[in-house]
Amino acid sequence: MMLIGGASLLFVLLLLSCFASEFSTATDFVSWTRYLQDPESITSNGSVFRMGFFTPKGSKYRYVGIWYNNYPEFNPVWVANRERPIEDSLGTVMISEDGNLVIMDGKKDVVWSSNVTTSARGNKTAHLLDTGNLVLHEANTSTSDEVIWQSFEHVSDSFLPKMKLSSNARTNVSVMLTSWKSSSDPSPGPFSGGINPLNIPEAFVWNGTRPYWRSGPWNGQIFIGLASMESVYLDGFSLQNDNEGTFSLTYKYAMAYISYYLLQPNGTLLQVYSGEEENDRGLPWSSYETECDVYGKCGPYGICDPSKSPICSCPRGFKPGNLEEWSRGNWTAGCVRETPTNCGSSNSSKRDGFLRLQKMKVPAFPEWSFPLENECAKRCLSNCSCLAYAYTEGVGCMSWTGDLLDMQKFSNAGVDIHIRLPRSELGKARDLKLVLAVTLSVGVVFITLSVLLLWMRARKRRAVTKLQETVTSDREESPIISSGKRIQDNLKLQDLKLLSFEELSTATDSFSSATKLGEGGFGPVYMGKLLDGQEVAIKRLSRASDQGLEEFMNEMVVISKVQHRNLVRLLGCCVEREEKILVYEFMPNKSLDEFLFDPVKKDKLDWSKRFKIIDGICRGLLYLHRDSRLRIIHRDLKASNILLDEELNPKISDFGMARIFGAKEDQANTRRVVGTYGYMAPEYAMGGLFSEKSDVFSFGVLLLEIISGRRNTSFSQEEQYCSLLGFAWTLWNEGNIMALVDPVISNNSHQIEVRRCIHVGLLCTQELGNDRPTTSTVISMLNSEITDLRIPKRPAFTERQITHDTESSEQSEGTRSINHITITTIEGR
Ligand SMILES: *[C@@H]1O[C@H](CO)[C@@H](O)[C@H](O)[C@H]1NC(C)=O
Ligand SMILES: *[C@@H]1O[C@H](CO)[C@@H](O)[C@H](O)[C@H]1NC(C)=O
Ligand SMILES: *[C@@H]1O[C@H](CO)[C@@H](O)[C@H](O)[C@H]1NC(C)=O
Ligand SMILES: *[C@@H]1O[C@H](CO)[C@@H](O)[C@H](O)[C@H]1NC(C)=O
Ligand SMILES: *[C@@H]1O[C@H](CO)[C@@H](O)[C@H](O)[C@H]1NC(C)=O
Ligand SMILES: *[C@@H]1O[C@H](CO)[C@@H](O)[C@H](O)[C@H]1NC(C)=O
Ligand SMILES: *[C@@H]1O[C@H](CO)[C@@H](O)[C@H](O)[C@H]1NC(C)=O
Ligand SMILES: *[C@@H]1O[C@H](CO)[C@@H](O)[C@H](O)[C@H]1NC(C)=O
Ligand SMILES: *[C@@H]1O[C@H](CO)[C@@H](O)[C@H](O)[C@H]1NC(C)=O
Ligand SMILES: *[C@@H]1O[C@H](CO)[C@@H](O)[C@H](O)[C@H]1NC(C)=O
Repeated sequence: MMLIGGASLLFVLLLLSCFASEFSTATDFVSWTRYLQDPESITSNGSVFRMGFFTPKGSKYRYVGIWYNNYPEFNPVWVANRERPIEDSLGTVMISEDGNLVIMDGKKDVVWSSNVTTSARGNKTAHLLDTGNLVLHEANTSTSDEVIWQSFEHVSDSFLPKMKLSSNARTNVSVMLTSWKSSSDPSPGPFSGGINPLNIPEAFVWNGTRPYWRSGPWNGQIFIGLASMESVYLDGFSLQNDNEGTFSLTYKYAMAYISYYLLQPNGTLLQVYSGEEENDRGLPWSSYETECDVYGKCGPYGICDPSKSPICSCPRGFKPGNLEEWSRGNWTAGCVRETPTNCGSSNSSKRDGFLRLQKMKVPAFPEWSFPLENECAKRCLSNCSCLAYAYTEGVGCMSWTGDLLDMQKFSNAGVDIHIRLPRSELGKARDLKLVLAVTLSVGVVFITLSVLLLWMRARKRRAVTKLQETVTSDREESPIISSGKRIQDNLKLQDLKLLSFEELSTATDSFSSATKLGEGGFGPVYMGKLLDGQEVAIKRLSRASDQGLEEFMNEMVVISKVQHRNLVRLLGCCVEREEKILVYEFMPNKSLDEFLFDPVKKDKLDWSKRFKIIDGICRGLLYLHRDSRLRIIHRDLKASNILLDEELNPKISDFGMARIFGAKEDQANTRRVVGTYGYMAPEYAMGGLFSEKSDVFSFGVLLLEIISGRRNTSFSQEEQYCSLLGFAWTLWNEGNIMALVDPVISNNSHQIEVRRCIHVGLLCTQELGNDRPTTSTVISMLNSEITDLRIPKRPAFTERQITHDTESSEQSEGTRSINHITITTIEGR
């Protein structure tokens, strides 16, 4: 407890009372002259966070905390005086004479202090930033300089974007989450969460000093002990080592929604998120999905499999350590070896071998031993203290010398663990179930592989070469080889349903012309009904040419991995004999261009529908660029690639051109420019350079088309303007931009919104990629989160000469937009 001398306190309060009225205007700071008295609060500059006094539900005390301004239903993400609540409602937050940020109760006792020794007395300011960070610094410096103290280094139970959880093994200095004691009591509970600075770092939750949950080792991209990390929105994490022993974990999110991680009072980490996209995400991620997620549930050497009953079992060569307790469901004793290992025996028939367990969460506390896979087994076998090893890309060989703790069997993730066993155990007849399981899984893999192989053989050599290039590395076209390759290797084609040709033939009445929806460059598209009654769209690549093979493989790989409300879903595929077929969800309303450019149907698209479409496309695009685990550049965004469902919700389709990016690359170069005239950004059309910003360009063109109801290319015959962009730019400069708007929607009621959209469209189509906003900024601008829009510079392609001197493939847009699955025509390669 600290007390401030009576006289100076009186002075301070007198001084303060002169300024108290200033709080009627919004401020984002507390300073020497501006204090905060219950129930006043301050908001961050962008109104994202608010700091003030609160009482938790079920409590009678007052606390000072920071919470999401627009989501008061979330618990405060940070609490200052966790350990000493204010017992009255006369609390004050202020800068004390010693330069610290302090909280005092009605009796003027200091209940909390930032407690740093500062050189200068007084004159400090505490700013609440839009990240949720409360920063104490010198009054005369800007917010980022010379931070004396910040709340991000004294976290409570919430892990916010840009926050850093860190640990240092040498100094024991760490930033960790601490749970509340209960939902009504913010004082520190028994659970803490953070990074365990092992030689392969992991995220842990501890109950006191005992591990309660762990994420599995970090492999450079993900934590490999989280079954859902590949499919759930856990993207954006990065774990860094500063080479002085400090590991720090942080993550970033696109601005479109709020998401953070909360360590609940019962020790479960929960992803909290908000926003209208909630329904797309299913259940929020939680560290406790099954009992198996509790650390060491099955004891040493026990394997936890949530799909089995009982959940715990012993691996081959092991038996329960305490059979009686084990059969009662008390697994704490774990498993013990039936036969000791024979390490060191010179008798070669008695040497040890390894039992392989597939798709596992690796045991806790691995040691890193060697980077190359082929050496793993040899090194482990030759060292008697090595009891198990595993290899995974991004980490290398891991080995274990102690008991194997916290193993879990996954159904669709994890790595293979090899456990040392004496030969005698390995030779034993296998458990029938195991044999069956192994045979089955091997069988499935084998069949899948052979189908692919057979199909590949049947192709001409040229095609085969092409295919390998696409699937493996894309060596010639871009510098994305290393990380891109790894990502692509991880893609599991098994996620896709393999349908038989026969089934699809039945579904479409032998591909009869009655079921045909249209014809594209790569072949016809049919509507079909699968055996289970599901209506689907079936895209059959024409047998005649190899064209499209690369795109076919690409599309399959890309789209099977992404799922979002605004992206069309691939349901399955068929690669049989000469056939390459993709099966999609069926979109009854076909594509956007069929509505937008049709004089009759366009009436159905009033402004609110158009805005919904614009917003939806942008959200789909943001998902591709930022939110999915892969970064994907679509490269061929246009009206005919936007499909509409019953309610005219937009879905981006046709990933034939899409490219997967590694985490670090921002742009790539291709020699083969594919895309559609009018939608291609200048740097891409002319230099083959593509990036997120080239998609943003296409989006901008699309946006202007949606507002004007006219094709960008429909201007080519007119004398005055060479494109929609040129037309829009002229109108903009004449101050007559509303003349661009489709007469169908040009009544006055939405003028401001329409005008803002056009403004955004112009910003997106600016000549230089750097001037164009990112997708997340576009969303914020469309939804008025950013109101202060920059003045656009001249868009690309506003002058005539540019049109036909590039190598790019040209498309005849008018004849091709045929159906609800469009197929991109490539000519003149
Ligand atoms: C608040 O934000 C606006 C716009 O980002 C900026 O111009 C202004 O300087 C900020 N104010 C403070 C006090 O940081
Ligand atoms: C302030 O820090 C000192 C040491 O730096 C410590 O002894 C003291 O207990 C702290 N006071 C509070 C209120 O945290
Ligand atoms: C306090 O800050 C003001 C400017 O904001 C500066 O003029 C003054 O010298 C500072 N006083 C002290 C004691 O640092
Ligand atoms: C801010 O104040 C500190 C101490 O009062 C002083 O050392 C520093 O030079 C000042 N900075 C600026 C930008 O005035
Ligand atoms: C860090 O913590 C470990 C275990 O709690 C302890 O053995 C070690 O001495 C501590 N090191 C320092 C520098 O405090
Ligand atoms: C946490 O540990 C305490 C004692 O160490 C124990 O009583 C409690 O059951 C543990 N909680 C959980 C959820 O395991
Ligand atoms: C912890 O509490 C949350 C909600 O209060 C609940 O959903 C979760 O299942 C609990 N976890 C455990 C391990 O009981
Ligand atoms: C579980 O078994 C261990 C011995 O294996 C014993 O010490 C412990 O008390 C048992 N726990 C319960 C809850 O029965
Ligand atoms: C090696 O062990 C096998 C089986 O235990 C035994 O039959 C054989 O005689 C042993 N050979 C030597 C050289 O010890
Ligand atoms: C065997 O492994 C242990 C633990 O990894 C290590 O300390 C030891 O040096 C190794 N021994 C040999 C001979 O490599």
